[in-house]
Amino acid sequence: MKKKSLNVLSALCLSATVLAGCSSNEETKPLKIGVAQIVSHTSLNTIRDSFVSQMEELGYKDGETVEYDFADAAGQPSNLNAIMSQFADEESDAIVAIATPTAQAAANYAEEIPVVFSAVSDPVGAGLVQSLDKPGGNITGTSDEVQIDQIIALAKQVNPDLKTLGFLYNAGEANSVSNLKKAKEYCSANGIELIEGTGKDMTELQSSASVLAEKVDAMFSPNDNTVASGMAALSKIALDAKIPYYVGADSMVQDGGFATVGINYEELGRETANMVDEILKGEKAGDIPVKVFKDGLNIYVNKAYMDQLNITLPDEIKDDDNLIMIGE
Ligand code: TRP
Repeated sequence: MKKKSLNVLSALCLSATVLAGCSSNEETKPLKIGVAQIVSHTSLNTIRDSFVSQMEELGYKDGETVEYDFADAAGQPSNLNAIMSQFADEESDAIVAIATPTAQAAANYAEEIPVVFSAVSDPVGAGLVQSLDKPGGNITGTSDEVQIDQIIALAKQVNPDLKTLGFLYNAGEANSVSNLKKAKEYCSANGIELIEGTGKDMTELQSSASVLAEKVDAMFSPNDNTVASGMAALSKIALDAKIPYYVGADSMVQDGGFATVGINYEELGRETANMVDEILKGEKAGDIPVKVFKDGLNIYVNKAYMDQLNITLPDEIKDDDNLIMIGE
């Protein structure tokens, strides 16, 4: 229907061009979408790529009907404001903001440009929306709420004697601060002592990890972007200390961690595209509920890590239909 009326319009325009120099520019101008991420790590790249391929599925042709401006803040929150202000200068039709720090920077531009955030663990805690059901304003998105309870319960199943858990994170990430709170609650209700280790960059995180690893029965990091960018080095520290390292996302298992219970981020990327599509078709961002991914979880276990520490999985995990062994 829409196509038809466009054709009629361009036909009209064509004959008008001859007469009065009518420009059909308005009709063919591609939509502009600014896509930003705080850093480049496996999971955020997966989200970005599946977002783009779903957009294509939905009929947005890169370079024809849509133009992307991809930006990466290289792990520096201070770069995000310049990125967002560039998106505004380019008169973007929508901003896709991947991960919490990105979304927080994008939110300042939401009055001018609709913002769809992607993979924000706690959108309310990060101050992005008032409520998940009714975001309000000009912003909505997808959330990868971390199932902290299930991950620590898994750690306890693998090692029923688990008494101390080292929680490694960047205190500058609101997503990790929310998850720390949940982990503290779960641990204190379950007789586990939680010991914190923080760092704002890899150098600091590595030294915190080394101290922590000597003191605890297991380590845990939520889906912290700074940690996720340095999984190889951090998991080596845990491995050398001969303790399991639980993490908050499948990609962090892929990149060296021991195990997690988590979602499929390709699906989350696709849903982000569906939301952008709705908004480009006229829906108001603030009227679209935040989509929280917390069902259909898999257990991800790193086979090499397991073998190296001679960890045996209890039968109920081994027999779980949702177990995915990575590296097998
Ligand atoms: N949920 C994170 C945030 O709120 C972003 C994220 C998505 C992430 N997937 C991840 C972080 C994997 C670490 C690992 O910012």
